[in-house]
Amino acid sequence: MPPLRRSDGVLVLGHVSLAEVARDPRFGTPAYVYDVDAIAAEGRELRAAFEQAPHLVAYAVKANSAGPIVKALAAVGCGADVVSGAELTLALRCGVSPEAVVFSGVAKTSAELDLAIGSGTAGIGSIQVESVEEIPRIAARASAAGRVARVSLRINPGVDKEALDTHSYIATGHDEAKFGVPLSSVPEALGLVAISPSLRLVGVGSHVGSQLTAVDGYVASARALFAFAREIRARFPLTFVDAGGGFGIDYGEGCPVRPADFVRATRALQVEMGLGDLALYCEPGRSMVGAHGVLLASVIQRKLAEGRRWTMIDAGMNDLMRPALYQARHRIVPIALDAAASVSAYHVVGPVCESSDDFGVHDLPDDAGSSRLREVAILDAGAYGYSMGSRYNGRAMAAEVFLSGGKVIGATPRSPAEEWVQDRLRAGAALV
Ligand code: LLP
Repeated sequence: MPPLRRSDGVLVLGHVSLAEVARDPRFGTPAYVYDVDAIAAEGRELRAAFEQAPHLVAYAVKANSAGPIVKALAAVGCGADVVSGAELTLALRCGVSPEAVVFSGVAKTSAELDLAIGSGTAGIGSIQVESVEEIPRIAARASAAGRVARVSLRINPGVDKEALDTHSYIATGHDEAKFGVPLSSVPEALGLVAISPSLRLVGVGSHVGSQLTAVDGYVASARALFAFAREIRARFPLTFVDAGGGFGIDYGEGCPVRPADFVRATRALQVEMGLGDLALYCEPGRSMVGAHGVLLASVIQRKLAEGRRWTMIDAGMNDLMRPALYQARHRIVPIALDAAASVSAYHVVGPVCESSDDFGVHDLPDDAGSSRLREVAILDAGAYGYSMGSRYNGRAMAAEVFLSGGKVIGATPRSPAEEWVQDRLRAGAALV
């Protein structure tokens, strides 16, 4: 569940008061707080939507790679969609079986391919081929390892980007050419796979974009994908079709569909098109974690200048890059609401030396006398928050607090400033 406001005005996530978390000296702010139980429930709900049909929910680890979260999703039977050797290693150590891993990415290094091919007894479930040029590279690494690598072809089905109903800043569409094998290159790709004894084509996949708030574009892409699977399955021993991730969440502007709606519509189409025996894969990231994480920040000071009201907080674009990078809007609310306080519109900004370190304009309580706004929560920060964080400006990585069963079950302390100082002093020292 996303955070709720209690009758006393305090914001609660996973039955825990966020005021208590924000004021707990063990964590400090900025701090990400996650409801691990709600994340596991997302995994269970999505898996249930397949109604016993063969499937894989491959959680896109890039959205949030914290161990307790990847472990919780693995524990409810999710696999992993990874995009680097490090993410692959993490997923396996969190209990995902090699069989349940798909590896996407347009530029996998030879070392990463070796890791994927060498995992478990038969390599990972599938290496997603994203270019014709990658095929001989994977074949050579598999052959050197004496293994047959399972691969899938990630096709770019050429769905009209306008029809996707997602925000242009977070649609992968705008640089789509980088991703997947274009339809025009598919015959060549299939020919190459067919003559490579060290490769077995087990699936076909596509991923059309992120933050989709309607099923139509996703299903249209799946239709193209399924038609393609039908065409080639007599030649290749396909075991799955992978319709990708992209299920949207409600950032405050509404999202009438649940992840399960995408799955049900796609599964129905799959059966209708005569592919019901194949496993259906999906690769959700954001929708598993986004609404179940908040970023807590303390107010450092207010500023009134040239008629503008500013609220300066201790979280910046290095902690949550989405507003700076995509002009994404996250709701910002006081952690403890003082019902008597008047409210004004404030520009909420962080301490980073960039004008884009700006979380937008939000209605927040004014300070009056001893009643001051102390902390705020930036909502829907569970996906692509910490995982995209950086230490720019010598800033710490935020703390992370994990909630389950109504209590704190673990935390990542903020990285100490001294760690950054030492790291930068060590720069260049290796050859001296
Ligand atoms: N599969 C593939 C091949 C992907 O490229 C992605 C996301 C996913 C799955 C997961 O998509 P999701 O279910 O999370 O939408 N940093 C951006 C989002 C980038 C998405 C990149 N690819 C953001 O903060 O909005």
